Amino acid sequence: MNQNLILEAEGLYHVYESSALDGNVVALRGLHVKVRPGEAVAVVGPSGSGKSTLLKCLGGLMKPSAGNVAFQGRQINRLTGAELVELRQDTVSFIFQDANLLPDMNALDNVAQPLRHQGTSAANARKKAEALLERLGMAGRSRGMPAQLSGGEQQRVAIARALITNPKLILADEPTGALDPITSREVLSLFAKLHQEEEVAFLLVTHSREVASFADRSLELREGRFIAQHGNDVDISDLSSTRELIIDETGTMTLPPEVLTQLGGPGKFEMEVDDEEQILNLTRSDRGELEDYGERGSLVLAGVCPACKHIYDDNSQECPSCGSSRPMVINSEP
Ligand SMILES: Nc1ncnc2c1ncn2[C@@H]1O[C@H](COP(=O)(O)OP(=O)(O)OP(=O)(O)O)[C@@H](O)[C@H]1O
Ligand SMILES: [Mg+2]
Repeated sequence: MNQNLILEAEGLYHVYESSALDGNVVALRGLHVKVRPGEAVAVVGPSGSGKSTLLKCLGGLMKPSAGNVAFQGRQINRLTGAELVELRQDTVSFIFQDANLLPDMNALDNVAQPLRHQGTSAANARKKAEALLERLGMAGRSRGMPAQLSGGEQQRVAIARALITNPKLILADEPTGALDPITSREVLSLFAKLHQEEEVAFLLVTHSREVASFADRSLELREGRFIAQHGNDVDISDLSSTRELIIDETGTMTLPPEVLTQLGGPGKFEMEVDDEEQILNLTRSDRGELEDYGERGSLVLAGVCPACKHIYDDNSQECPSCGSSRPMVINSEP
């Protein structure tokens, strides 16, 4: 594992085992992730695509079914529990989809606690916590208990708690999802400042255009696979406009469904590699073994969402009603 990377993950798979009739859920299907020090990376993708699962595996909160995760070149599955806690304290902070505060401590002590763990005196830790809460517009609420705070207030406390230790990497799951637009902008500008001035690295999961545009690049996740990458000009309402396809370390390329449609669906292709120009040419060749598709018709985007039965009237890639990825089906029309 590369020590020059703040975070590196190789071949991550995760299966949620279930004895239910619908069986196991494969949430991650062989993901590789690299984050350089000071880099901000977003992961975008529809509901259920595996974003939270990925973040939990990357943060060492959940053991992936297979694969490795390393912080600064140190593989976390080789560390003892105590070593992992120490490495995490020094390197990485989390912001979850739901705030996850300690319920028996007020806001101020929730924020001060990670510093106390590192050995800072109570008075000093409280002073820093107070200042950070004030920056996040929470000065008047710092003595509130989590249960007495609104969802947005709890999230701001969670963000202050994540920032207080000056981590080198912040892993965040929809960090502004529970915030109003003004607080959300405030949090993002704080993130941007940390990113630009203090070179904090970020890996954030988001549906938000603003959050994604703060990142240096965005990885597009669909059904547990990265299907593409986007630069910092990403428009998440139209991902196809900025899409760069990814070929990962195993040589696997996953095509977005609509690109596969453009190619005429699955099939056999002749391949020509131009080393100099770095071009890979694919030409559809023998349809012999795939006549089946020819007879049954080509693949098209499904007309009806299999999850919630929404009827599509456009070319959108995910269901506007439930967020599921839109599958391909055999075109039954002649
Ligand atoms: N504890 C669990 N047990 C079984 N299946 C799970 C569990 N948690 C998540 N899943 C399934 O794994 C897949 C990925 O879920 P995940 O929570 O990672 O998605 P997500 O991209 O974070 O979605 P959202 O945007 O709605 O938060 C989904 O199909 C989900 O139903
Ligand atoms: Mg999630």
